[in-house]
Amino acid sequence: MKVLVATEKPFAPIAIRQIREVTEAAGYSLALLENYKNTSELLTAVSDADALIVRSDMVTDEVLDAAKQLKIVVRAGAGYDNLDIKSCTEHNVIAMNTPGQNSNAVAELVFELLLFQIRGGFNGKKSGSELRMKTLGLHGFGNVGKYVADIARGFGMDTYTYDPFVSERVMKNNGAKQCINLEELYLKCQYISIHMPLNERTNKLISYDLMKKMPQNAVLVNTARKEVVDEAGLLKIFEERTDFCYLSDIEPDCKAVFEEKYQGRYIFTAKKMGAQTEEANINAGVAAARQIISYFRKGIEKYKLNK
Ligand code: 3PG
Repeated sequence: MKVLVATEKPFAPIAIRQIREVTEAAGYSLALLENYKNTSELLTAVSDADALIVRSDMVTDEVLDAAKQLKIVVRAGAGYDNLDIKSCTEHNVIAMNTPGQNSNAVAELVFELLLFQIRGGFNGKKSGSELRMKTLGLHGFGNVGKYVADIARGFGMDTYTYDPFVSERVMKNNGAKQCINLEELYLKCQYISIHMPLNERTNKLISYDLMKKMPQNAVLVNTARKEVVDEAGLLKIFEERTDFCYLSDIEPDCKAVFEEKYQGRYIFTAKKMGAQTEEANINAGVAAARQIISYFRKGIEKYKLNK
């Protein structure tokens, strides 16, 4: 059995060592395709793989056609908008993710971005501000949202959340107050952090009308996916409100406009950095390898994504 790790953005070496240990101890071989620059490299590498571990790498119809022996693909991470699940099913490939494994890393990045911004980038020119007693809104309260709420408690923030899929009890137990709708969340919170998957329902969900509701000195933090924010609406808000900031873990399509007109009011990471820690790489990568082994050995289908 051959397990291929195909990552355009590689795992840390220590994570690869641990993934290899787990895989080889189970009697399977591990192949690596890291830092690849074009799809043709992936197409060649998957041709004889029985199992595939990816990060945000696109697993398309074309990739699945080339992967003649593939039985399972695991997205080492939470968001699986990069996997064509329908095509996986058509190709008899089971698809899984590893929810929760990299969530703390993403949650910490939220505060790294926020603190850097509200302290004026530590540029020594002006006084910054503090997080204590400020309102924090978590748009989405899954694994990452809960970690963010946990850290926010240490900062003494007043945390609110809106998530139609999570009960008020879970919110309360994790230190967040429930808002009855999105409007209330955006009206109440000076800082909003977005924590939701990208799908048909969430595409461009963060609209001009929502952003407009945010209080004075608003900061919107997006460590989810760039597509969940309506960029036309975002540019409109930036034009109208000089107090509005946007911090995003991945550059928006309209980055050039920000560079030209809005210096100091945004931070964009060059590559998605949320899960880019050794700990997150180890947790997600090893979990992916273990899920593959449990599937082959015992038929365990936990975290299966195929409908
Ligand atoms: C996720 O969905 O798990 C995160 O966005 C991490 O993505 P990455 O593995 O490509 O860094």
